[in-house]
Amino acid sequence: MRFETVELSPRIGTEIRAGKTDLLKGGLREEIRDLLEQRGILLFRGLGLTEEEQLEFSSTIGEVFDQGEKGIFRVTLDRSITPQADYLEATTFWHIDGAHDRVPTRASVLTARVLTDDGGRWTEFANTYAAYEDLPLEKKQWAETQRVVHSQVYLQSAHYKSPTPEMAAHWRTHSEQIHPLVWKHRSGRKSLLLGHTAGRILGMSDDDSRRALGELLEWASQPRFVYRHHWTVGDMIIWDNTGVMHRVEPYRADSGRLLSRTTLVGEEPVM
Ligand SMILES: [Fe+2]
Repeated sequence: MRFETVELSPRIGTEIRAGKTDLLKGGLREEIRDLLEQRGILLFRGLGLTEEEQLEFSSTIGEVFDQGEKGIFRVTLDRSITPQADYLEATTFWHIDGAHDRVPTRASVLTARVLTDDGGRWTEFANTYAAYEDLPLEKKQWAETQRVVHSQVYLQSAHYKSPTPEMAAHWRTHSEQIHPLVWKHRSGRKSLLLGHTAGRILGMSDDDSRRALGELLEWASQPRFVYRHHWTVGDMIIWDNTGVMHRVEPYRADSGRLLSRTTLVGEEPVM
């Protein structure tokens, strides 16, 4: 290991202390990827990479997803900067990015650029590997046989209680996916595939589905599985999007809050 590490909590999160130059050289790919899978999120406190450097660093650990401007997606509620800003309102609810796709993205890298006093000061991350591992045996066996419908519609409906027909129609243009509740990764490890994109368990009534998914979500977001990061400008976080849910503290659309996100292309379908 060519950098110093500090555990942020027993079950999730490690801070990496490494210099900009070492990170950009790219020789740390395997160490960072291994640590990411084991620890769910990696924090680089006050690293202060520019967007170009963030892009460069991201491409040393995986294939960068083509989004936003040359791979940089600006996380803000300001529609003049990010046309998809409306969709981000619902990210105050637990979710895994692209859980309604066949192959969810591998990981995302986020750097805080502008913070304000109008909310959005923290982001929470929940380790869904740990949440699965700690389930009682009976519950694990039950979960392993369940299949769940994931959709952007469920996530957006958590935020927008009375959407216009146009909004609802737009949400439905996104893919819907049926995934197993327990993701059996190639590594042999298992995680829960949960969050507000999960709306229905196959073969169960809507009410029973909601109850069962709600209970599991509550289980998986217990403090012992969660790391809450209080942002400072320049902080960078990578999260393993295949085994971590996240959500942000609500913030005002006109707050000016801005983070830059780069995303790594998914590497394995949910099985
Ligand atoms: Fe997200």
